[in-house]
Amino acid sequence: MADNGTHKLSLVGLTKQYAQGIAPAVDRLDMHVEEGHLVSLLGPSGCGKTTTLRMVAGLMDPTAGQIMVDGADITNTPVHKRGMGMVFQSYALFPHMNVHENVAFGLQMRKKPKQEQDRLVHRALEMVQLEHLAKRQTRALSGGQQQRIALARALVVEPTLLLLDEPLSNLDAKLRETMRAEIRQIQQRTGATTLFVTHDQDEALDMSDRIAVMNGGLIEQFGSPIEVYERPRTRFVANFIGRANLLTVTIVDEQRQSGADSRYRVDVPGFGVHPAIGSPGLTGRRTLLIRPHRLGAEPAAAAAGLRGTIESLSYTGDSLSYRVRVGETSFTAERLTSGTDRMSVGDAAIISWRPEDALVLPEPVEDAAP
Ligand SMILES: Nc1ncnc2c1ncn2[C@@H]1O[C@H](COP(=O)(O)OP(=O)(O)OP(=O)(O)O)[C@@H](O)[C@H]1O
Ligand SMILES: [Mg+2]
Repeated sequence: MADNGTHKLSLVGLTKQYAQGIAPAVDRLDMHVEEGHLVSLLGPSGCGKTTTLRMVAGLMDPTAGQIMVDGADITNTPVHKRGMGMVFQSYALFPHMNVHENVAFGLQMRKKPKQEQDRLVHRALEMVQLEHLAKRQTRALSGGQQQRIALARALVVEPTLLLLDEPLSNLDAKLRETMRAEIRQIQQRTGATTLFVTHDQDEALDMSDRIAVMNGGLIEQFGSPIEVYERPRTRFVANFIGRANLLTVTIVDEQRQSGADSRYRVDVPGFGVHPAIGSPGLTGRRTLLIRPHRLGAEPAAAAAGLRGTIESLSYTGDSLSYRVRVGETSFTAERLTSGTDRMSVGDAAIISWRPEDALVLPEPVEDAAP
């Protein structure tokens, strides 16, 4: 893929093979990141997120491919000349230094004058709202405070790129949410182009300008949160981002529209022919996606649809999700609770969906797949 030099960061055919005879951990990966964007690398454990980040940071040599910043090839530039700030997966602070010393470390390495160091450290600590802890020893900090100090330490050098590897992984659920809002605010205020590694889809959807959904060393889809959620291109992406009902269907016919989407009729095995939408030109066997909260499930007396039985219910206070078995297939439906929900396991239920909530995915289904 050619690079026209307008991107903040470009990865071109980036590959890492740790050893001969095993599959590459990162496999000819291409990605372009725009200035000021926060891009999440999202994917399951072992898909190559950390490996990618370490190559960008210069902590590890790629087996093949290029890394470009502002159009310049930095693939062979040593780590200390890349001007990047990094927070590692285990965000280890230096235990023998206090908070101020930890944050000043990168500035010292760059031989900044002492007064300048103090000013920048103060500003970075202000940004993470911990200036009052400057003299504190790091072992006397909570997990969330350490996390924020690690972030301040990465920000203080005004990095050309901020690289964050699961910076919230050691925090409890509530603090994670607070910190993710804080990181996003700091990132937007400083305009720091950021690569953010996570395996948490909510985090990625909430924080990102773009999401790179990774699987087995490859990017399966790169797009805005809305694109990857609303228009997943593959079964993997549909399943990994949000929850999904996925059915293997055969396309019966297509009716092209003036807009981007075609209307399709698809044969759902066992359930007959149903309307759906999808990008134009799809044929043969494909996957049909219906999000659980867009699947209606009503007591049996209600409207037309597929008749099934409620197999299980799961109540989380805000929402109620239930599995409805229709023939051989279980559908997951979800809705906000009303306070007067009256469905029980064993009840008959009718499920239905609107044609525009049934999306045909572009990825073809191989014959061997279920
Ligand atoms: N130093 C190494 N030597 C050999 N194989 C490695 C090394 N580091 C990572 N791997 C392998 O490379 C693959 C990608 O690892 P990586 O750490 O990049 O995954 P990850 O996406 O960051 O996963 P996690 O979410 O668990 O942190 C994995 O299969 C891993 O076992
Ligand atoms: Mg990792």
